[in-house]
Amino acid sequence: MEIPAHTSAVNAQYGRDDLAAAILAAARAAGKDLEGLTPADLAPATEFHIGGREATLELARLAALRPGERVLDVGGGLGGPARTPAGEVGCTVTVLDLTEEYCRAGEALTARVGLADRIAFRHGDATTMPFADGSFDAAWTHHSSMNIDDKAALYREVYRVVRPGGRLALQEIMAGPARPIHFPVPWVRDPAISFLGSPEEMRALLAATGFRELAWADVTAASLGFFRERLAALDRGALPPVGLHLLLGDDFGPMFANQARNLEEGRIVVIQGVFARP
Ligand SMILES: C[S@@+](CC[C@H](N)C(=O)[O-])C[C@H]1O[C@@H](n2cnc3c(N)ncnc32)[C@H](O)[C@@H]1O
Repeated sequence: MEIPAHTSAVNAQYGRDDLAAAILAAARAAGKDLEGLTPADLAPATEFHIGGREATLELARLAALRPGERVLDVGGGLGGPARTPAGEVGCTVTVLDLTEEYCRAGEALTARVGLADRIAFRHGDATTMPFADGSFDAAWTHHSSMNIDDKAALYREVYRVVRPGGRLALQEIMAGPARPIHFPVPWVRDPAISFLGSPEEMRALLAATGFRELAWADVTAASLGFFRERLAALDRGALPPVGLHLLLGDDFGPMFANQARNLEEGRIVVIQGVFARP
């Protein structure tokens, strides 16, 4: 079967060989006991969004995730954000992601921290989800819509697979008032797969899809603080062994510097939102 060009481009952007082995080797180098490894130990390399594990815990609180709820993590990557509510709250989580290597590595890392019975990985496209209507109590997503052009299809699918009365929680990078953005950034080297909507456009689209807004907050200022801390560590040569550089490769430094510049200059903003599916 022919692989769609978008799928290949996303896999080329994120996929790297043997990611689980590289992350586990870094954890060992950091002095972690691999037999007693926890989701928090992996988080600096597997929570691939601004604010990391802290932002994930905050979104779980905002979304009022409860033990036993079935959660869909849209574009859930290596499963860092899924392991947090699965481990801390007791949810069962399905991770849907378009990057095959992330699904493979995410499964291995999840088994390593003993959460394989609560988290499943599915390789697939968020604009055509392989799930029945109403399969989940909640969907959430961190930094995944930037690579998705057809955002109407994305939110239509989220709406379809969440049960009536369920929720959507998101933390997304959106277009700021200044254009264009400086590349490369952590989600693209090639602008051909970068699709940012403005907060106004995204908010209107979510409402038009049928979601009812419960919370909407601009967290750009805190996001900038997160990047400044990391850039300072990079300058001091004090990067911890387990970190996002393991995913991003050699252009990690320029990507982080551009991300901070884009935030500073109002080229990108970061929004947290929670919605109900009536
Ligand atoms: C910046 S990463 C964020 C990963 C994860 N949400 C996290 O916070 O750790 C963006 C993710 O979106 C995924 N993605 C991009 N387009 C997608 C699509 N159409 N369907 C599903 N996943 C997609 C990528 O494969 C990647 O894992």
